[in-house]
Amino acid sequence: MSSSSTILILLLSSLLVANNASPKPEEYQTYIIHMDGSQKPTSFSTHESWHRSTLKSLSSSPSDSDDKLLYSYNHVMHGFSARLTPSQLSELEKSPAHRATYQESFGRLLTTHTTKFLGLKPKTGIWPASSYGKDVIIGIIDTGIWPECESFTDKGMSPVPDRWKGKCENGTAFSPTACNRKLIGARSFSKGLLAAGKNISKENDFESARDHQSHGTHTASTAAGSPVLGASHFGYARGTAKGVAPSARIAMYKVIWATSTPEATASDVLAGMDQAIADGVDIISLSLALPQTSYFYDAIAIASLSAIEKGIVVICAAGNKGGPNTTFNGAPWITTVGAGTVDRSFIATLSLGNGLTMNGTSYYPASAYITNAPLFYGAGNLSKSICSNSTLDPEEVAGKIVLCDNSTSIDILGQMKEVQRAGGYAGIFLADSINLDPQQYNTPSQFAIPSLVVQTSFGTSLKEYVRENDANVKSMRFVITSLGTSPAPQVAYFSSRGPDPINPGILKPDILAPGMDILAAIVPNKQYIKVGNYELVTDYALASGTSMATPHVSGVAALLKAVHHDWSPAAIRSAMMTTAYTLDNTGTVLKDQLTGMPATPLDFGAGHINPNKAMDPGLIYDLGFQDYVEFLCGLGYSKKQMRAVLRRNQWSCGQNSTDLNYPSFVTMFPRGSSTATAKNFSRVLTNVGDDTAVYRAVLVVPTGMSVKVEPRTLTFTRKYQTQGFVVSVEIEKDASEIQYGYLRWIDQHDHIVSSPIVAISV
Ligand SMILES: *[C@@H]1O[C@H](CO)[C@@H](O)[C@H](O)[C@H]1NC(C)=O
Ligand SMILES: *[C@@H]1O[C@H](CO)[C@@H](O)[C@H](O)[C@H]1NC(C)=O
Ligand SMILES: *[C@@H]1O[C@H](CO)[C@@H](O)[C@H](O)[C@H]1NC(C)=O
Ligand SMILES: *[C@@H]1O[C@H](CO)[C@@H](O)[C@H](O)[C@H]1NC(C)=O
Ligand SMILES: *[C@@H]1O[C@H](CO)[C@@H](O)[C@H](O)[C@H]1NC(C)=O
Ligand SMILES: *[C@@H]1O[C@H](CO)[C@@H](O)[C@H](O)[C@H]1NC(C)=O
Ligand SMILES: *[C@@H]1O[C@H](CO)[C@@H](O)[C@H](O)[C@H]1NC(C)=O
Ligand SMILES: *[C@@H]1O[C@H](CO)[C@@H](O)[C@H](O)[C@H]1NC(C)=O
Ligand SMILES: *[C@@H]1O[C@H](CO)[C@@H](O)[C@H](O)[C@H]1NC(C)=O
Repeated sequence: MSSSSTILILLLSSLLVANNASPKPEEYQTYIIHMDGSQKPTSFSTHESWHRSTLKSLSSSPSDSDDKLLYSYNHVMHGFSARLTPSQLSELEKSPAHRATYQESFGRLLTTHTTKFLGLKPKTGIWPASSYGKDVIIGIIDTGIWPECESFTDKGMSPVPDRWKGKCENGTAFSPTACNRKLIGARSFSKGLLAAGKNISKENDFESARDHQSHGTHTASTAAGSPVLGASHFGYARGTAKGVAPSARIAMYKVIWATSTPEATASDVLAGMDQAIADGVDIISLSLALPQTSYFYDAIAIASLSAIEKGIVVICAAGNKGGPNTTFNGAPWITTVGAGTVDRSFIATLSLGNGLTMNGTSYYPASAYITNAPLFYGAGNLSKSICSNSTLDPEEVAGKIVLCDNSTSIDILGQMKEVQRAGGYAGIFLADSINLDPQQYNTPSQFAIPSLVVQTSFGTSLKEYVRENDANVKSMRFVITSLGTSPAPQVAYFSSRGPDPINPGILKPDILAPGMDILAAIVPNKQYIKVGNYELVTDYALASGTSMATPHVSGVAALLKAVHHDWSPAAIRSAMMTTAYTLDNTGTVLKDQLTGMPATPLDFGAGHINPNKAMDPGLIYDLGFQDYVEFLCGLGYSKKQMRAVLRRNQWSCGQNSTDLNYPSFVTMFPRGSSTATAKNFSRVLTNVGDDTAVYRAVLVVPTGMSVKVEPRTLTFTRKYQTQGFVVSVEIEKDASEIQYGYLRWIDQHDHIVSSPIVAISV
């Protein structure tokens, strides 16, 4: 197996550290230097020549200063990344043009029926209205792309628009002719990684935009893949695989490389985003994250704000850490995406000698049909009964189907390996959730022996039967895809949850999208799984992660952009959020897959994305660059910090308020307060419906919270008219830890503009 087994999403790494971190004496390190572009002397024709000259002028500068410059940035910020010694750095920091320094940091990845699950239809709704996202360009910052995948054929697509400035770079196993009208750009950025002393694996990667790890091929085909008939994961999930915006175009910016593990550096991520902005993408999709840190140290946050200022929508994964207070990429100008399950499951059926039958989950990649095999269970010995490492005796289990008890001390994948090691014929595993390890984004690739996972609740009857003499399995049948699974969607167990650790005052994630068992293109002709002596390959595979949820939202954003060319990034996000749904296919609140309990807006944000509704939201909560400036002023940032985030010397704080015109509401109250806590929010709605409309406020309020809206009726007489209102939220004393309700504006044309109201104790 390649390193792709660790691809899962996200991140590790140490961070963008403040410029007061003390590096080792006189060693070269990579720094990202943010400069004041307006101070470029006119004698330099380009910023890059100025950057080179600045580097050359440093006293202890080596003669080969050209080699020390990694990238010159012009869009995400004015500045560059370079290899510098500490004394060179301090010399540089004395320059009046110096704005901020970031130390290099490392990020990691956060992986077709889903279009149907999203309600996308060929004859009605947003697909035909947007011509399937025609001519919208999605820039994907990822592990590269496999251009020959059928998902990237350009049949029927119009010529690439003149506004496009991107290109298809030549490189190892990647010819510029690999691009076409679907894949219109492909570039790679590795200078930061190489400067950090890392080597790109020759066996597990290509030194070009060509993908080896499959992650980028998967995300790109999910966002905008062309239709491919008869795609499947070894027979599971068979159908036509299609991106969410199948007529949109793709540009790949490869910044994640296989070293010993998949890795990305902040300087390369910045370079990819910088180039994407310069090339003219409409949407930037990032299924990766750098460590959480304040916005003024966060390369993705700074680069995203620059993109937003140019009208580019930035969609990022929320992370795969599960648990509260774990979201990544939570800056309020970014659309932050959590992962949900879909109503599809992959099952195997088990039928026992005593007539008992049960269904379990399986991804075993062959239509195996096993009949009449003896069953083994290590009763009476705890480590054997849970199939711990090296406990099964090959003589006892050879040729048998091994039952492994549920356990918190060994995960199913470990149990599977043990059954395989000991020569078991097949395995039955008791567990309530198959995915115990959030880092296992490609769990399906681990099903190397016929295995099925059944609910712990079946354990008693199974174990009782095994105690009988001659217990046997009458049959096991694999490769069954079951649709209509309920409840669905659920919040995937691994999806990172709010409150946002950097700013709990903005609800994150913003929205949920399909991120569990997503079928999309991968790198073909490469062993995906080894079953017995056979190396199996596949060109479509299932993967899970907020990495997989993100390109769904990027695809929907592309559809919205195609319908509403003039909408701002905030308007597009607002439309997706206020039309999201919070009830599952059983009619109850979306559940948390981890606990089976109802989830909250801290888990799913505004709810699950609903593309057809998002096309016609009625009203939007709009935001522009100046609103974010005022928000940052309200955080009390210093001038230097403001310059770093805003990339300029002058700005106006205006209202200086952290109360953004956001489509969700968060209020914080002191835990166990003996008095009530109140907060007022001011919001402005813009009518994007064509009709005159009268909206009235409908509130869903839990006990312990009271909400007033003033005025309660908003009347719009023309398109783009705006109306303001104030929401007053009061939390009673002794309120419980977290409470949430909803404000919904409803008009006579069936528009429902819904926002969660969340109260968090601190
Ligand atoms: C393209 O890249 C390959 C591999 O790096 C190289 O061998 C070839 O000479 C390059 N072609 C051009 C036209 O630069
Ligand atoms: C990278 O490759 C070079 C040359 O092959 C080798 O000397 C160096 O040790 C490698 N570095 C790492 C981190 O593996
Ligand atoms: C197992 O799943 C199959 C296919 O979805 C279904 O027909 C059958 O009723 C299920 N059996 C049990 C015991 O749940
Ligand atoms: C079992 O093996 C796995 C992988 O080899 C290892 O991570 C785990 O710690 C082992 N567990 C025990 C209990 O030895
Ligand atoms: C349980 O099985 C393990 C592994 O086969 C063995 O080492 C151990 O002695 C057994 N324990 C008992 C109590 O029999
Ligand atoms: C398996 O789950 C059952 C029910 O949840 C629990 O009682 C039992 O202790 C678990 N077994 C192990 C070995 O953890
Ligand atoms: C959330 O996480 C951040 C750092 O990741 C920590 O500083 C903060 O105390 C945490 N907040 C809560 C409520 O746990
Ligand atoms: C904005 O408001 C914050 C908090 O009230 C305050 O700390 C900060 O100094 C203000 N900034 C400006 C520029 O007015
Ligand atoms: C909220 O606004 C109301 C009037 O709309 C005012 O009476 C109240 O004092 C305000 N509360 C806070 C906490 O600002």
